[in-house]
Amino acid sequence: MRLLVTGGAGFIGTNFVKYILRKYSDYEVLNLDKLTYAGNLENLKDLEGNQRHRFVRGDICDASVVERLVGEGVDAIVNFAAETHVDRSIEEPTAFVITNILGTQTLLTIAEKHKVRRYLQVSTDEVYGSLGEKDLFRETTPLAPSSPYSASKAAADLLVQAHYSTYELPGITTRCSNNYGPFQFPEKLLPLLISNAMNDQPLPIYGDGRHIRDWLYVEDHCRAIDLVLHRGKPGQVYNIGGGNEHQNLQVARLVLEILDKPESLITFVKDRPGHDRRYAIDASKIQNELGWCPVTPFEEGLRKTIAWYQNNKKWVADIQQGEYQNYYQKMYVHRDETLLKRL
Ligand code: NAD
Ligand code: DAU
Repeated sequence: MRLLVTGGAGFIGTNFVKYILRKYSDYEVLNLDKLTYAGNLENLKDLEGNQRHRFVRGDICDASVVERLVGEGVDAIVNFAAETHVDRSIEEPTAFVITNILGTQTLLTIAEKHKVRRYLQVSTDEVYGSLGEKDLFRETTPLAPSSPYSASKAAADLLVQAHYSTYELPGITTRCSNNYGPFQFPEKLLPLLISNAMNDQPLPIYGDGRHIRDWLYVEDHCRAIDLVLHRGKPGQVYNIGGGNEHQNLQVARLVLEILDKPESLITFVKDRPGHDRRYAIDASKIQNELGWCPVTPFEEGLRKTIAWYQNNKKWVADIQQGEYQNYYQKMYVHRDETLLKRL
């Protein structure tokens, strides 16, 4: 099987490419990634010399590069490539519309033209908007995105659905909750908390810190995508969740406890505009139809993740130069002047 994986130098894509190459000794992976600020070739260093993996720097919006790769005889496409950070989408939404919508459209058109056997769109639970204290996101929950990021992902999901209905393109969409694990860019909550705590820096918590996310260990997610890719039904949506609901404040406290750091590092900052209060997934469809369930308890996954960041300080330090530093400073001028002074 020859897979085109897009966004395979980012967090989940990196984990997925390695998972697939480990699991299937006869699979080939073409890895197409633009290497935005979030893509990192360091992640793929241990694949150098692996004849079954080929990295191509390119943009999913660029039909010529996508056409060239798919034309080499690709059996399936797994699309991870996206602009992914909600806060950035609030500051600069256009890049999200371009990559997440136009990029997906480009992949779909070319997949259809070459009659690719599977197209898997990696989407997000954020397309459903926010939950109250009860209830869970089901595949039938209406789409109600709050941020430019989630709106762009919802639009892409609808394009996948439309290509199934109109052209019979065998597209499938997965919608997962918040992933955590190795190689996550330290602008996202967990790696940010871990690296700040390791360096005795403030842990910024938006609003009252009672927002809830459903944490999914990245390897459990990769296993789910693998199953959906091979056994999922075209035209369907599958929710993937960790079954690990935690308030952000609880997560911050647990990180501090594991690292033996004081709670005084927690710093409340101005809330994110349009901040969704609670996400929680009902994963019974993938469980019942494909036999998947998450196996990593949150504390175990968190300890593994923390250990990875402790063993990869240079990976984080290299990222925290240049563009990241400018972004981080800008965010905190915007969010909270006090925090900026403490940094
Ligand atoms: P990430 O930001 O770590 O990586 C995204 C990757 O896409 C980067 O390597 C980047 O260089 C690449 N990319 C961006 N624009 C591109 C373009 N135009 N052409 C080619 N490559 C491009 O993201 P992630 O956290 O690994 O997320 C992967 C996918 O999973 C995304 O589609 C995201 O919406 C979805 N998702 C993520 C989470 C999560 O918790 N991280 C949860 C739900 C869904
Ligand atoms: O739910 C899936 C989504 O999870 C993915 O689709 C997105 O790509 C991914 O970025 C993630 O979105 P979130 O907005 O949930 O993740 P983030 O890590 O930015 O924030 C998690 C929670 O922590 C959220 O309630 C906001 C809060 N937060 C975040 C940051 C960066 C803070 O309190 N402080 C912070 O500094």
